[in-house]
Amino acid sequence: MISKITSPARLHGIVKPPGDKSISHRASLLNSISKGVSHVSNFCVGDDRSSMLGCLRGLGANITRHTNCKISGAEECFEIIGSGLHGLTEPSDVLNAGNSGTTMRLISGLLAGQDFFSVITGDDSLRNRPMKRITTPLAQMGAYINGRDDDSLAPLSFKGSSLRGIECTMPVASAQLKSCLIIAGLYSSSPSIIHQPAESRDHTERMLNSMGGNLEINGLAIKTGNKELSSVDVKVPSDTSGSAFWLIAGACHPDSRITIPGMGMNPTRTGVLEVLESMNANITIENEHLEGGEPTGDVTVSTSDLIATEISGDLIPRVVDELPVLALAACFAKGTTVIANAEELRVKESDRISATVDSLQRLGAQIEETSDGMRITGTHTLTGAEVETHGDHRIAMTNGIAGLLAAGETTIGNSEDASVSYPSFWEVVSELQE
Ligand code: S3P
Repeated sequence: MISKITSPARLHGIVKPPGDKSISHRASLLNSISKGVSHVSNFCVGDDRSSMLGCLRGLGANITRHTNCKISGAEECFEIIGSGLHGLTEPSDVLNAGNSGTTMRLISGLLAGQDFFSVITGDDSLRNRPMKRITTPLAQMGAYINGRDDDSLAPLSFKGSSLRGIECTMPVASAQLKSCLIIAGLYSSSPSIIHQPAESRDHTERMLNSMGGNLEINGLAIKTGNKELSSVDVKVPSDTSGSAFWLIAGACHPDSRITIPGMGMNPTRTGVLEVLESMNANITIENEHLEGGEPTGDVTVSTSDLIATEISGDLIPRVVDELPVLALAACFAKGTTVIANAEELRVKESDRISATVDSLQRLGAQIEETSDGMRITGTHTLTGAEVETHGDHRIAMTNGIAGLLAAGETTIGNSEDASVSYPSFWEVVSELQE
């Protein structure tokens, strides 16, 4: 699909992004191995949801989609009948995580502790993303795990084994790695102690503890637990990363006011708000409250006089998915913004440093690629051009927001790639253009 976008004179509206992908993934996985029945509403949408649900169903999980759910009152909800920690069954076919790194890494933590054989694979992009970071510690825990290229690339295969706890320092501040090890810890005879180099999203920890899991968290150290879990109902907040696109559109457009009701405000995810505030963005937050243990709030952003900032260090894992669209915001800020220590971006769904620089350069931005980030000097103007998604949903959507801000027409090839996490993204763009 090709999308052609022009900048509207005004950008006013209320946008409700889909349910948070990270929280939905954890709610479906953890409730599948809990005891009891749960209802998860405002579940994420898109191809990554199908990947996670497909893998869980392949393992025998009992997950049913209901519309107009009488119990949660939601338009759509998933009823999950948990089978307990040891109720999953051997998949008769290869599990497919599609484009979803979270699915592959979290499900691998689960497979490592099962007493059956399984194989998990993914699409071209995922089969080239680094898996050694999970296979090494899982093997140390006693998992029998194999993969291509000396266990560093999917497909990955698992054979029944019993796990024991380990003490390890994670080589990267990755929530996917941390969650993989915490999930494997549920099947270990002794606790693991996991040391994080910096804080990353903590949805697994919050949800497990709300289910009676035995996690102990001490600063950046996590001691895993192996108790049976009790199912919990979850009303998933709006995706923080999906919301970020509209925050940047609202802050950069010369006549805008956009409200995002019920946005996920977990502090391990709100790096984007901190960065925008340091850039002088006009943001107000109302109605802050907890929704199933996760903070949410109604966020409004309007036209702002942005200034440049530095995004680096421990902030990076808390803003990792928002860096491409923040680079776009930097094009509309006074001064030079530096993004550093973000080498993880090179091993996401695409090399997001090169992909972002490619798009923004085509649109006339003053942007330069560095080994671990980018330097962007704001010019307050972009000019429509032809841009590519690089097979990456977040680059597709960054291009879409750039189109709402650039002079002239922006043409985005393969714009359907946005459907990995946000299938209605282009509809919202059209509505805002009217
Ligand atoms: C995710 C963690 C992040 C993020 C990804 C979702 C998760 O990756 O990039 O989109 O749900 O755990 P890492 O923290 O592993 O880098």
